[in-house]
Amino acid sequence: MKIILLGAPGAGKGTQAAKIVSDYGIAHVSTGDALRANIKAETELGKFAKSFIDKGQLVPDEVVVNIVADRITKEDCKKGFLLDGFPRTVAQADALAKLTDIDFVINIDVDPKVIVKRIGGRRMCVCGETYHVSTYDKDTCAKCGKPLYLRDDDNEETVQARLDVYKNQTEPLIAYYSALGKLATVDGDRPVDDVYKDVKEVLDGHC
Ligand code: AP5
Ligand code: MG
Repeated sequence: MKIILLGAPGAGKGTQAAKIVSDYGIAHVSTGDALRANIKAETELGKFAKSFIDKGQLVPDEVVVNIVADRITKEDCKKGFLLDGFPRTVAQADALAKLTDIDFVINIDVDPKVIVKRIGGRRMCVCGETYHVSTYDKDTCAKCGKPLYLRDDDNEETVQARLDVYKNQTEPLIAYYSALGKLATVDGDRPVDDVYKDVKEVLDGHC
């Protein structure tokens, strides 16, 4: 199974992705996580990407396409994979189409006003777990015990820039995949488990 999760920043892609990959035994491929790992490791790629991410801009297409092209050839992607945060432009979608066929695209739909609140309260762990201050009030991760942190690009100004970029460059992908008959939209403005119930219905209907 090869799936794309589409959605604005903070729509809940990472949250739903964790559930999907655990239930369906497929690999989680997040370009955002890959770029942040490079920033943390202070690689040349990380230094280059940080200048875009900190401003809420997209990292150039060829950089992320190369990351994905390499990642999906790895052993853990053989059973299938979920792309979280890729593609984000029509050029990336065209490049992906040349690399592989995608079975299904799930679009998580959330109002931008809800998104600003969600991102402001997000807390992350290096192990990949994501929390929200409204439902989790500890400073350390429930899974691995490490301290939680705020993403550098989760401040109000950068979030607005990310939402603008989404509107202009990523939202056209809804029509792109809809025209290919691959898109299903779920209402993401509901509790996490309710959203996941709809996601599962879509996936199980197409397995
Ligand atoms: P990336 O890391 O992909 O960030 P994003 O798309 O901005 O999305 P987020 O990770 O912020 O949100 P999410 O949808 O995963 O939501 P989450 O589940 O965490 O990209 C970061 C940057 O890297 C980009 O800006 C760009 O610069 C660069 N980049 C990455 N990919 C690229 C590409 N392909 N091309 C070019 N550049 C690229 O949830 C958010 C919060 O809400 C959490 O606190 C969570 O607990 C909470 N929450 C989740 N679901 C619910 C719910 N149903 N109800 C209530 N709260 C919820
Ligand atoms: Mg994410």
